[in-house]
Amino acid sequence: MEKLIITSADKAGIYQEILPQIEGVISYETDLIANTANVAAILKEAFDFFWVGFYFVKEEMQQLVLGPFQGPLACTRIKYGKGVCGSAWKQQQTLVVPDVEKFPGHIACSSLSRSEIVVPIFKNGNVVAVLDIDSKELATFDHTDAQYLEALAQMLEKVF
Ligand code: SME
Repeated sequence: MEKLIITSADKAGIYQEILPQIEGVISYETDLIANTANVAAILKEAFDFFWVGFYFVKEEMQQLVLGPFQGPLACTRIKYGKGVCGSAWKQQQTLVVPDVEKFPGHIACSSLSRSEIVVPIFKNGNVVAVLDIDSKELATFDHTDAQYLEALAQMLEKVF
């Protein structure tokens, strides 16, 4: 694939268009960094999110470490249970945060980030990474994002 094709204007429609294109891209490549880098790029291009990227689980250190992303400079390490990312890892579930200032322990990599969604990626039942997306607006993410990004996370299981 050389170019992302998006014709929809609404969120669900955009997800429906990009998920098969992501599947196509990752089906030709086995490298984890290459695939997660392209997924971050596709989500950024499709939605122009403020920040979109991956944190990889380093089980032995009980930390998340920054992976491929699109957006401003970000925190490199997040401890298990800390921030939205570390909490999504610990709780093993998607966290939708409409207002980051109201999330106790939120880690502000950028003061411009106002809302966030973090989706865990599982491999054989264990969280191996999280997909983190930040927005400069309040309440950007909802059930629709959670639903499609969880489908994406499932698709990504095979690249880990
Ligand atoms: N806000 C996240 C930290 C990662 S940055 O947003 C890229 C958190 O609280 O875990």
